[in-house]
Amino acid sequence: MQDNHFYVTTPIYYVNDKPHIGHAYTTILADVLTRYHRTQGQKSFFLTGVDEHGQKVQQAAEKRGLEPQLHADEMAPRFKTLWQRLEIQYDDFIRTTEDRHKRIVQLALQKVFDNGDVYADEYEGWYSVAEERFITETEMQSGQFRDVKKLKEKNYFFRMSKYQNRLIDHVENNPGFIQPESRRNEILGFLRQPLGDLCISRPKSRLSWGIELPFDKDYVTYVWFDALMNYISAMGWGSDEARFREWWPVTVQLIGKDILMTHAIYWPTMLFSLGVELPRMIFAHGWWLTGDTKMSKSLGNIVDPLGLVDEYGVDAVRYYLMREMVLGMDSNFSVESFVKRYNSDLANDFGNLLNRVSGLIGKYFGGTVPQPAQRLVEDEQIQDFASRTLPEKIPDLIGQMRIHDAIEQTMALVRNVNTYIERQAPWKVVKTDLARTGTILYTATEALRIAAVFLSPVMPEKTRQVLDVLGDDRADILWGGLKPGVQLKAHEPLFPRIETEKT
Ligand code: ME8
Ligand code: MG
Repeated sequence: MQDNHFYVTTPIYYVNDKPHIGHAYTTILADVLTRYHRTQGQKSFFLTGVDEHGQKVQQAAEKRGLEPQLHADEMAPRFKTLWQRLEIQYDDFIRTTEDRHKRIVQLALQKVFDNGDVYADEYEGWYSVAEERFITETEMQSGQFRDVKKLKEKNYFFRMSKYQNRLIDHVENNPGFIQPESRRNEILGFLRQPLGDLCISRPKSRLSWGIELPFDKDYVTYVWFDALMNYISAMGWGSDEARFREWWPVTVQLIGKDILMTHAIYWPTMLFSLGVELPRMIFAHGWWLTGDTKMSKSLGNIVDPLGLVDEYGVDAVRYYLMREMVLGMDSNFSVESFVKRYNSDLANDFGNLLNRVSGLIGKYFGGTVPQPAQRLVEDEQIQDFASRTLPEKIPDLIGQMRIHDAIEQTMALVRNVNTYIERQAPWKVVKTDLARTGTILYTATEALRIAAVFLSPVMPEKTRQVLDVLGDDRADILWGGLKPGVQLKAHEPLFPRIETEKT
């Protein structure tokens, strides 16, 4: 991959049901990272999509009395619609039933077969219908698996065990490969046990909804072998080598911790066998919980992101999700915490700052941005924070995937500016010194403008409005981008306070 390239992926979501806030979260995160890297002048590519094969989808289709393809054709657009409503700017949306994908999965299977990494064997063991895989005796005894049955059948196996040591070396030598650290340790711990081989086939008699094995037409491939391949099939592996070389290895693969094993164990060993370089980083974030339990389709405790967007607007939802979750940890989703976050950060701090500066400039300067005069140390502190501290810190925080911290730093500037306005009290100064008043209001407004630029990957719509009010179409982070003499545009309150019963 070329150095100035940023390639990010999300999991491809199952089309067994409509998306919920958990899916929205990973996808928004990928979008925020992509927008951020774009503003840094990097060439970016953002891949998402849907996982359409396998037992879960077949069962969901059966329940509705539909052919699985028809079911998938109905479900896939729901994801696209949601992504549009959430202002997600993906570059490609892959569906695993597309020819461009199926062809490549078969090519990969044949390649893995040809180099001796696949063998046939009779296997008898516990099979989890929910997980769509055979589970070990220990897993069986853990009692964590629902819907388990004993199965005996001939199947094809991928020699995953062969790559165990190579994988351990890779994880040890590349500390950034699996992130965060706690997940890396989990994988290293898991790899201390001997790694088994991976069953990569399903007899058509049991499951027909999948991609046929190129070397045995009585079988389809295991949904995970199929799904994981999307990350390279969409990028030209096996079809457009120049494009693939330009973008691979992928910069960061975002996943939830629920699918860490498949991504940190199956996927790299598949890539070893195919002779393809491993991803630079696999980042497993935590779960959105309701109460203490994971939000999930099967538990039925999900939050519908569209409902939230309708009620509070897309930017508030994006902001809440990005600000509230410490990457890597679980977070509790509740309407109370949403309202609290909205009112304190968006209504009181950010929205209020725009109201104040536009109100004061309206009142004292007829709505025209004043020319700053001589600066005092208080003004310089604000300027320093906006034009030195933030540009220094934010790229590091983003690089370390500390999105919530990057947002917090920017909001600290917003809060400082609000305090600065209160202390400087331009409404008093104006009685004696118009030039000084102009400097204060210029400083506050310019800091707001820069904060808006830094927040734009998170809140693309509202920050665009702020920049529009301030007459800024360049979104430059350099101090001085706000032009004296520009007439501010009229605007509505950015984030009207949410009034709850208690307030
Ligand atoms: O696993 N909190 O698809 P899936 C946070 N098709 N994130 C959540 C979440 C929650 N409560 N619930 C879901 C699959 N997610 C496979 C993936 S990839 C080659 C194949 C997000 O529909 C999170 O990103 O079950 C999680 O990993 C993903 O949705 C699982 O989506
Ligand atoms: Mg799942």
